[in-house]
Amino acid sequence: MTTLARTGLGPGHPPVASAADAAGRAAADSVRRERAYGARNYDPLPVVITRGDGSWLTDVDGRRYLDLMSAYSAVSFGHSHPRIVAALTEQAHRLAVTSRAYFNDRLPLLLERLVALTGLDRALPVNTGLEAVETAIKASRKWAHKVKGVPDGQAGIIACRGNFHGRSIAITGLSTEAQYRDGFGPYPPGLTTIPFDDPAALDAAIGPHTAAFLVEPVQGEAGIVVPHDGYLARCAEICRRHRVLMICDEVQTGLGRTGRLFGWQHDGAMPDGVILGKALGGGLLPVSAFVATDDVMQVFTPGDHGSTFGGNPLGAAVALAALDVLEDERLVARSRELGLWLLDELKGIESPLVVDVRGRGLFIGIEVDAAKATAREVVHRLLARGILTKDTHGTVVRIAPPLNVPREALVWAIGEIRAALEDLEQGVLRVA
Ligand SMILES: Cc1ncc(COP(=O)(O)O)c(C=O)c1O
Repeated sequence: MTTLARTGLGPGHPPVASAADAAGRAAADSVRRERAYGARNYDPLPVVITRGDGSWLTDVDGRRYLDLMSAYSAVSFGHSHPRIVAALTEQAHRLAVTSRAYFNDRLPLLLERLVALTGLDRALPVNTGLEAVETAIKASRKWAHKVKGVPDGQAGIIACRGNFHGRSIAITGLSTEAQYRDGFGPYPPGLTTIPFDDPAALDAAIGPHTAAFLVEPVQGEAGIVVPHDGYLARCAEICRRHRVLMICDEVQTGLGRTGRLFGWQHDGAMPDGVILGKALGGGLLPVSAFVATDDVMQVFTPGDHGSTFGGNPLGAAVALAALDVLEDERLVARSRELGLWLLDELKGIESPLVVDVRGRGLFIGIEVDAAKATAREVVHRLLARGILTKDTHGTVVRIAPPLNVPREALVWAIGEIRAALEDLEQGVLRVA
């Protein structure tokens, strides 16, 4: 038995007979209802979560799981962080939503903080990541027309193959994933894609009407794809030379996930605009923002763009508390140090099923050999062992725990990952 299981930190055991039956019925009922009444746009793992606490989740049967997914980085500071929950409840009792028809006394503090963190000039708050990406695209196009002199309606956006920036029509128009696009067209014109991690392709793709280059510092949904050192610095130089904006989508990589505050800092590249989301909401609310230079942001005049809930005082108070936690718990350094150690440990797992382990900070992907197994199979075995994670792109298992995950929990998880791969390997050999 592992230390964690002995101390009760590991996956718990289901409660005794009748209580377990009732819990099992509750789980089945939740699954049945969701399947009966929900659109089928997700395919969740067969586990019904009812509680979250730090890095741990508990299902309706009372089993505990270590969260190695962090809701795609939205829960970077752990589930129900007491300081962030306190900020939420205090602010909810005082003032939650006013719309931007009036000033409120929380939003300005968040805007000032985002500007200080990024080194840019102005922030525009919205709710979800895709709204912030849309905001960046709109700002870039208007900047190209009003400032750069591109004819109205001609401004182009370049993104990278394998990107994930959200799922609106315009953003889906930039996607190279056939399933994301299938049946949703027509898409807006002026959207181009180039290979990721290829500065020469960017140089070649830029034309006189190009407004912006939109890029993730590490491609998350594509399977934790880390570019070569210096990639973003070279892109920034190319963009500057052609007078094209470089916009970094840090929705998933930002706020410490890759072991730096922002992913672009690995290369020392300074973008013209940054998109933040997920972790900014402290794991409690959707809070996102587009932050950019004055030159870009000044294209917006009152009425050009907005969102009813964007910049609400409740979200602003939560985001401020989340940023306090990030700083006070030194989570950027923690992500860097734990990430280096974890990457090393995971690379040390010798399994014929694993073809690559890569990542930056606590943003790691384990790629399995497609000829031998699927990432889903690994994920299912990890679920059975009390670890929640997620497959991406068929062959990659993502490892992205809350940045304040206890080190001993990761020590335990490494053993379970090794054992899960062994389970699968034996299964594969039996089938063969
Ligand atoms: C890099 C990136 N950009 C944008 C988004 C979209 O964010 P949201 O789901 O909050 O709209 C995501 C979501 O996974 C993302 O990973």
